[in-house]
Amino acid sequence: MSALFQPFKLKDITLRNRIAVPPMCMYTAKDGLINDWHQVHLASLARGGAGLVIVEATAVAPEGRITPGCAGIWNDTLAEAFVPVVNAIKAAGSVPGIQIAHAGRKASANRPWEGDDHIAAGDANGWQTIAPSAIPFGANLPKQPKAMTVEDIARVRDDFKAAARRARDAGFEWLELHFAHGYLAQSFFSEHSNQRDDQYGGSLENRSRFLLETLAAVREVWPEHLPLTARFGVLEFDGRDEKTLRESIELVRQFKQGGLDMLSVSIGFSTPTAQIPWGPAFMGPIAQRVRQETGLPVASAWGFGTPALAEQSVKEQQLDLVMVGKAHLADPHWSYFAARELGVDKASWTLPAPYAHWLERY
Ligand SMILES: Cc1cc2nc3c(=O)[nH]c(=O)nc-3n(C[C@H](O)[C@H](O)[C@H](O)COP(=O)(O)O)c2cc1C
Repeated sequence: MSALFQPFKLKDITLRNRIAVPPMCMYTAKDGLINDWHQVHLASLARGGAGLVIVEATAVAPEGRITPGCAGIWNDTLAEAFVPVVNAIKAAGSVPGIQIAHAGRKASANRPWEGDDHIAAGDANGWQTIAPSAIPFGANLPKQPKAMTVEDIARVRDDFKAAARRARDAGFEWLELHFAHGYLAQSFFSEHSNQRDDQYGGSLENRSRFLLETLAAVREVWPEHLPLTARFGVLEFDGRDEKTLRESIELVRQFKQGGLDMLSVSIGFSTPTAQIPWGPAFMGPIAQRVRQETGLPVASAWGFGTPALAEQSVKEQQLDLVMVGKAHLADPHWSYFAARELGVDKASWTLPAPYAHWLERY
């Protein structure tokens, strides 16, 4: 029996299998507003059979977009545009999730295929970035951010809260806070980017404060019966990983006490000099350690997009949920492909009738 194709229950939500589409930016929104591209893209991923489809990093404030093409949810009009997407994902038997985000010092960038670097100073398409400290990321993202005041910090925390409320009202059933990848929340946690000397910097307790306050604010509006999750970079691959991992695990325990239901275990991406050991499923053992030491269910991504590896990661209890990203761009029906390859009983296949009638014969 396949472990990957067992249902997964979290709070009142049951996923039909352990396959999730992680958030993936499409860079094709306009002023934060999503459009037909997102509708077709996300509906097809849900129809393809994944148990969970998480909408791309969606900015809680205009300056929190990575690029001018990133999606936003900072007002009700932007939020309402997600309603048809939510409905289409549900109609296909999947669960609609959304990642809410603020890109911090990595914001105001060109789209990946247009350079993936900061928009040049003086170009009207760009904007002032903000971060815990006025320290640029470096490399292709050299723009100096403005160090946030305590009022700025409270405002962004409240932006996350308002975004969560709008996501709830749009019908999303799974919320992921983007606390990873060197964006704003991760940059509060990381000493690479946070050198504040007030209550938001310095000690582990202080570097954790923005993340815990944001979680608490969101917890007030996100329904208790629906999964509240976060994606967090638990290490940087910068030579200090054991210390960072221990601090991360301590923070994740506090997330759990603060009402977090699951963690998507990821990478910090806080420094351009990181030496990341890319390889198939390389985050599996790290995610498993977080799972064992915190007692939280975990997901992870990065190179799990072959059926055997995905299956193995669940069977060996490294992951509760497997995030399959680029393999889903290559084949939105990746779940069907995986089910066939793993010899899963046809009853667990997830194809809609107009496809199943033909494909189940072969
Ligand atoms: C086009 C694209 C956009 C992405 N956008 C996001 C995003 O919005 N939020 C996020 O947390 N990760 C994002 N990622 C990272 C993916 O969620 C995932 O971690 C990554 O693709 C590795 O998984 P894979 O090896 O299965 O592709 C993106 C990746 C891709 C390829």
